[in-house]
Amino acid sequence: MLSLFKSKKTESHQLTLEDDTFFTKLRNAEYSRLDKEGHAYLDYTGGNLYTQSQIQKHQALLRDNVYGNPHSTNPTSHLSTILVEDARKKILSFFNATDYHCIFTSNASGALKIVGESFPFNEKSSFVILADNHNSVNGIREYCTAKNGKTTYIPVQYEDLEIKADLLEKVLSEADPKANNLFAYPAQSNVSGVKHDLAWIEKAQKKGFDVLLDAAAYVPSSKLDLSVIKPDFVSISFYKIFGYPTGIGCLLVKKSSFDKLVKPWFAGGTVTMVSVVSPNKFLVYGSERFEDGTLNYLGIPAVTIGLDYIESIGMERISKRVLSLIENLSIELKKLKHDTGKYIVKIFGPDNFKHHGGTLIMNFFDPEGKLFPFEKIEAMANAKKISIRSGCFCNPGIDEINNCVTTEELANYFVSRDKGDYHDIVAYLGKMRGAIRVSVGIASNGNDLMRFVELISTLKNKAVKDL
Ligand SMILES: Cc1ncc(COP(=O)(O)O)c(C=O)c1O
Repeated sequence: MLSLFKSKKTESHQLTLEDDTFFTKLRNAEYSRLDKEGHAYLDYTGGNLYTQSQIQKHQALLRDNVYGNPHSTNPTSHLSTILVEDARKKILSFFNATDYHCIFTSNASGALKIVGESFPFNEKSSFVILADNHNSVNGIREYCTAKNGKTTYIPVQYEDLEIKADLLEKVLSEADPKANNLFAYPAQSNVSGVKHDLAWIEKAQKKGFDVLLDAAAYVPSSKLDLSVIKPDFVSISFYKIFGYPTGIGCLLVKKSSFDKLVKPWFAGGTVTMVSVVSPNKFLVYGSERFEDGTLNYLGIPAVTIGLDYIESIGMERISKRVLSLIENLSIELKKLKHDTGKYIVKIFGPDNFKHHGGTLIMNFFDPEGKLFPFEKIEAMANAKKISIRSGCFCNPGIDEINNCVTTEELANYFVSRDKGDYHDIVAYLGKMRGAIRVSVGIASNGNDLMRFVELISTLKNKAVKDL
């Protein structure tokens, strides 16, 4: 469990990494391209990495068979249909989701859009949404507003980036329980790595809300058991769990909530009967109602391969490993200080790792406490082949909280111009926006962590103006 890392500056670091022998072997066998190419990949929340064997298995499937467009009786079509339906079954079994329909989408955003455009918002609706959401969830508010419903954001707490429970409880209680209400939140923040309390699902449902759980950042390193927690809608992107293929996600819809979604149009593959001389149509019942046009039938079998791979390791094992990696990284970063005694790194979010996944968000400061622009840090990392991510991560809520941007400031900014961007708002507010995000995953090792820590230690005693 203990790994000793000697940095180039001769200091030794003892990292307590869970299951290190197993995951070192796995990295050598399946992810050797990382070390061959000298990469320290620390952007797993952006996208996971695929294994050699996933690619080989998928390639063999394509090489050795003939696949046609599904849903016909011809043999090549039939073969595709079988593999697509196998993948659907595999997904449902992976999430223990016997009470759910699995709708294939092109990614989590595609899944969220289906909910947005099909949820029966009206003027009585309350759409309650956590401030810590990806923009693909935030965007659903446009559908609610278009139907004159009310959107209410629930902030997270500045100190630990967890849900303001009293406020959420109050807002959920104030809604008309008979209206078409929706509560949307992420199981894990794509920015802070905080795992939000899944008990809110049942609490919100009891108050008359359907619940949309955005599980995109959670499922790559946490078990989601839909026989235990039962949100109405769940969004997922598969490349975030096992790297390949990109372009495939799913929306899981609880069977009892399926009829609530009203599809606003129809497309090829979504109807059983339609006429051009009469305005009528019959929609397919089940997942296919929301699968517009031809599915990615050559890519979908790779989802089965990916899920088999994750099962062969075990989600619990991955969870423990990822948690130990992120905890160790946090410990090492928090040791870094300037000679003035000031810390170099500020990590946002909770002090402990009780409800945490493999993501950290942070900023860096000079000996006088001045903030290093994140672009500079990212450029330094790029030069060392360390892949991290910077900016707001499509989650403006967390950034607004971390950088103390007020509602009034934002309102004034938006009325003051017709268009704008990140640089413009920074200049307008005179406040910093954005941060650095580091995320770990199945193939991360202690060396990746220490390469990042060493990079940041080069900021020691450096002034912002000298970087
Ligand atoms: C929590 C969360 N939700 C939704 C998304 C959107 O996923 P995609 O870009 O795959 O549609 C992401 C992507 O980073 C995410 O982390």
